Amino acid sequence: MCITQLDRRYLAGTYARFPMEFSHGKGSTVYDRSGKEYIDLGSGIAVNIFGLGDESWKAAVTAQLDSYQHCSNLYCSEPVAKAAQLLCEKSGMERVFFSNSGAEANECAIKAARKWAAEHKGPEYQTIVTLNKSFHGRTLATLAATGQEVYHKDYAPLPTGFRHVDVGNAAQLEQLVREIPCAAVMIECVQGEGGVMPIGQSYADDIARICKKYELLLICDEVQLGNGRSGKLFGYMHYGLQPDLVTTAKGLGGGLPIGATLFGARTADTLHPGDHGSTFGGNPVCCAGAVEILSRLDEKLLEGVLEREKYIRQELDGSPGILAVNGMGLMLGLSIPFPARPFAERLLEKGVLVTTAKDKIRLLPALNIPMEQLKKAVRIIKDCAQEETV
Ligand SMILES: Cc1ncc(COP(=O)(O)O)c(C=O)c1O
Repeated sequence: MCITQLDRRYLAGTYARFPMEFSHGKGSTVYDRSGKEYIDLGSGIAVNIFGLGDESWKAAVTAQLDSYQHCSNLYCSEPVAKAAQLLCEKSGMERVFFSNSGAEANECAIKAARKWAAEHKGPEYQTIVTLNKSFHGRTLATLAATGQEVYHKDYAPLPTGFRHVDVGNAAQLEQLVREIPCAAVMIECVQGEGGVMPIGQSYADDIARICKKYELLLICDEVQLGNGRSGKLFGYMHYGLQPDLVTTAKGLGGGLPIGATLFGARTADTLHPGDHGSTFGGNPVCCAGAVEILSRLDEKLLEGVLEREKYIRQELDGSPGILAVNGMGLMLGLSIPFPARPFAERLLEKGVLVTTAKDKIRLLPALNIPMEQLKKAVRIIKDCAQEETV
């Protein structure tokens, strides 16, 4: 059996995989098992933030592997403490809990918000308000938090205590938090799975105002947008928000599984020994990768992200077959007047890897993708989109 046949025979059928057998890669270049070359504009869904096989990331990770691969959370570990220090010093947050994924980072934030609210406001203040079209993960609680019915189907009963409101409708949010005792509002500043749509400055201002007025915690889910992808360390920084809890994952480990929940001044002392935990969370090898990633997210790199964003927008926004480019930094969605999945498969044939989000093509390249490669990939997208329209 070939790899595709083995995959179809033995893997749970949870993924609609593209017809490609991954072989190896370097930077933003990927090869399949037949030797065909691709330009990677997906980076493993926003994970390989410095591309494949980045030399200094590999050195940091392998040095840690040579030292010890795991020690449990019963002991202090240098890469774990340093990753937390970097996250806090760069963001102004106070403390970090490490887990293994975005969903787990959100689970921790949900638990912490409820505990904080129970202690500071009363045990009935449990509800977490999230936005319609949001995506917060696949565990039962984060599914319940996700404001998309399509993901809830077949999994009832879901955990209770989540309510969803429409993006942009401040009056609806205010009415809800007035009527129901709530702990927190949880948002993605750019809704990724929901269609790569930024929530916008004025709605972000409304959320901040309402959280302040009703003493609600603000949780920013930066799982996809965080770690430099927006052009700042975190996307909420573009809107001037001051969240009480921030969650991140994906790009943080540069390709190794890690999740992080960051606690701000108000929530820093919420969790105590025994309140939460994870066997693998804060794995030293993953944290060594995160230290390397975080220490390279400097002004120059972030400027490069904005420069690449500008180029993509200039070339593609409104070009034939592309209605609009939405998003932030290097998390961009192309609105196209034809179905996204077949178009993504056509780009794959032409040697460009992209993902989709609802009816859009989603671009999530490595933050350091060389301009020459980006230009080549953008030219292919442009040509294919034009061909679709004739
Ligand atoms: C905004 C957001 N939150 C949470 C998640 C879940 O992350 P994970 O798949 O690592 O559990 C994702 C994954 O796409 C995401 O985009």
